[in-house]
Amino acid sequence: MNPLDQLKSIISEIESSSPGDIAALEAFRIRFLGSKNILKPLSASIREVPNEQKKEFGQLINDAKQKAEALFLQIQEQLAGGKSASADMPDLSMPEPSQPVGSRHPVSIVMEEIIDVFARMGFEVAEDREIEDDWHNFTAMNTPEDHPARDMQDTYYVANPAGWLLRTHTSSVQARVMTTRKPPIRIIAPGRVYRNETVSSRSHCQFHQVEVLYVDEGVSFADMKQTLHQFAQAMYGKDVVTRLRPSYFPFTEPSAEMDVYYGLADEHAYRITKGTGWLEIMGCGMVDPAVLETCGIDSKKYSGFACGMGIERQAMIKYRINDIRLLFENDVRFLKQFASVV
Ligand code: DAH
Repeated sequence: MNPLDQLKSIISEIESSSPGDIAALEAFRIRFLGSKNILKPLSASIREVPNEQKKEFGQLINDAKQKAEALFLQIQEQLAGGKSASADMPDLSMPEPSQPVGSRHPVSIVMEEIIDVFARMGFEVAEDREIEDDWHNFTAMNTPEDHPARDMQDTYYVANPAGWLLRTHTSSVQARVMTTRKPPIRIIAPGRVYRNETVSSRSHCQFHQVEVLYVDEGVSFADMKQTLHQFAQAMYGKDVVTRLRPSYFPFTEPSAEMDVYYGLADEHAYRITKGTGWLEIMGCGMVDPAVLETCGIDSKKYSGFACGMGIERQAMIKYRINDIRLLFENDVRFLKQFASVV
């Protein structure tokens, strides 16, 4: 075959090529564009081409190079754009597929809000264990083994070591702190607690509480009332109406419950206030001198107040959630409704 025909057949080979993946494209490049491409020796054979065909030959050599180059670039772009059937090479320049963005859980939102209010009043966060011993959870909190008040808070006991349990309230942190620190003590203890309760729309076997404890010289009931009222103002607005209602807890004397006036504007308000218009938001009271003494604090010199509140309850009030179970099921359709809360 003379050089001109050889060249024509190379051109038709180029025209009919369609490298379908990276490996085929590389073979194409080496054959037609590489440093030892087949056009090189052919160009040199222009000497053998008759004079009147030299011009055509030269043009065809250029044509062949241009065609090979154009095809190479075109296929390269196709492969990089993922348009080819081949999947050997991901396109790193493609934008990342969008990932769903998470959001804070309503319990976390409310817990941080409560912590924030007390932190501004000078309370320090004191977290402690969820698996607690009987002494810190009950006995130190003035609820000895045969005390009937234990029945109010049945829980899950750990088989080994015996006598350990899942704490029923964050009040156990009061005992942890008072036995290890000296007054003045001003702490807030958020965390998860457990009870052996039938799960329903209103109660769960696990939930969260925040405990507040202030022990110093001369702490009075008036200090407690003012602190808790200010807290209610921060959570529910300046014009909030609160009341303290006498109650009973083994570890406080006197004890009270704080209610916030919610009104009876609609059916929801009726339901959650049980038709009274008042919402109970926390238990509180003056720390019983017996508790101070048990924890090694001189009750003649020091006094204090404490309070404890359920976080789910506050979240349910705030976001009008009518079933506590929603807060533990982690259904994304429920949780993403809180994405806009910052
Ligand atoms: N520990 C109580 C409970 O879980 C709540 C409570 C009531 C905490 C009165 C306190 C308090 O600190 O003073 O039901």
